[in-house]
Amino acid sequence: MSQLNLILMGPPGAGKGTQAERLTEDFGLPYYATGDLLRAAVREGTELGREAKKYMDAGDLVPDEVVIGMIVEALGTDEAEDGFLLDGFPRTVPQADALGRALEQLGRRLNGVLLIEAPDEEIERRISGRRVSENGRVYHVEFDPPKTEGVCDVDGSALIQRDDDKPETVRKRLAVYHEQTTPLIAYYEDLGLLHSFDGSPPPAQVYEHLRATVSTLRREDEA
Ligand code: AP5
Repeated sequence: MSQLNLILMGPPGAGKGTQAERLTEDFGLPYYATGDLLRAAVREGTELGREAKKYMDAGDLVPDEVVIGMIVEALGTDEAEDGFLLDGFPRTVPQADALGRALEQLGRRLNGVLLIEAPDEEIERRISGRRVSENGRVYHVEFDPPKTEGVCDVDGSALIQRDDDKPETVRKRLAVYHEQTTPLIAYYEDLGLLHSFDGSPPPAQVYEHLRATVSTLRREDEA
């Protein structure tokens, strides 16, 4: 059975969520985004959500053991049996090691790590204009506006700005990315899994490159 086990990586606001929507639709992959899972826990007011919110609002990473537990649980489900797309995980070397161990135990391997890159100034512009629906559908007031201002095209819910999208929090998140997540670029490069993409062009153009690479990875896996 062919499996496509993929990671989407990149700085905050690089366009991971935007591209994930297209990838999951075209390739039928279950999608696990730690940021979305954590925000759902915050909305539901669970103990995990209350604890995670403190870190998220400060632009810090939630402790490794919390997110590792969430992802290991998701990968063990029937839904993820034929493949998955991870977004926002792993974000630290201990998380990447834990993912490697979990996949080994399941007798599986990663097919590729898709890194979307964008300069810090562009990221600040993008995040300041980002609006999201209750279900996590992503818009941008200028680059990708909804048909009706402030309303989600898909489910009609009101669009809001994320609590961690304030300029000072975005700068902190970028610093955390450079310090704690960029070591994973060399980590996956050494494993021969890294594929880098320029996230600066418009979303459709970025997607063409991603789609071509993922199609190749799938053909290689089926061969
Ligand atoms: P998370 O939700 O993962 O946030 P992030 O990585 O900071 O990424 P974003 O969701 O901000 O950006 P994106 O790359 O998806 O960009 P988007 O497509 O929306 O994490 C949030 C927090 O949760 C973390 O800070 C941490 O506290 C915690 N957390 C999560 N995972 C964790 C982990 N593994 N360990 C510990 N803690 C964890 O695009 C951005 C905007 O730009 C949108 O408005 C979009 O419309 C627009 N846009 C997208 N592409 C383009 C383009 N090509 N051109 C123009 N505009 C574009």
